[in-house]
Amino acid sequence: MYGMVNKAVQDLLISKHGMEVWLRIKAKAGVEDEIFISNQAYPDDVTYRLVGAASEVLALPAAQILHEFGRWWVLETARHGYGHLLKAGGRNLGEFLQNLPNFHTRIMMIFPALQPPEFQCTDAAPGQVRLHYRSHRRGLSAFVIGLLHGLAEMFAVTAEISQEQSLDAGADHDVFLITWKETETA
Ligand code: HEM
Repeated sequence: MYGMVNKAVQDLLISKHGMEVWLRIKAKAGVEDEIFISNQAYPDDVTYRLVGAASEVLALPAAQILHEFGRWWVLETARHGYGHLLKAGGRNLGEFLQNLPNFHTRIMMIFPALQPPEFQCTDAAPGQVRLHYRSHRRGLSAFVIGLLHGLAEMFAVTAEISQEQSLDAGADHDVFLITWKETETA
């Protein structure tokens, strides 16, 4: 994944747990990079090792770290670094989710080696969307749930997100049901 992802993991961990803990996590992960270059592609393994090491050092399930990272990605990384892209995604949660299948297409113009996730929306109704997620990567469903919570927070709505199907449990792909109160203003 692009270095911006690893840099965001680093920013989250330093901000929540401090530099000393981050250096322990990085050492445990066997990552020797002094810095991550945002627009350079790194092997996915680097990101997975950082999350795995954070899980060990902090004694927290990896899913909890991925969930927290998803919220952080939207509310900190994307909002502060790529606000214009987020704004173009939609004026409210429903619109943003409907546009999500095409969202990374714009990002590929900036990061041409991007290997983006694949999203599809079905059963859209006021305050509800069923989101289908496919990727060649494994184990990121908690990240997606964290991203969705981050988006709901960004649009200041209270959303419930439930995972209806899971690739890890043998389904063809992950499916999430997102429901929220239509109180948002455009
Ligand atoms: C401006 C905001 C965003 C930027 C710049 C961005 C960029 C990226 C980048 C660089 C990656 C790593 C993939 C690679 O390097 O090959 C990635 C992965 C991913 N993004 Fe985004 N993204 C943004 C917002 C979102 C949002 C809002 C969602 C969904 C709610 C999302 C869902 C994902 C997922 C699930 C992955 C993991 C890759 C996978 O599943 O295979 N992203 N994104």
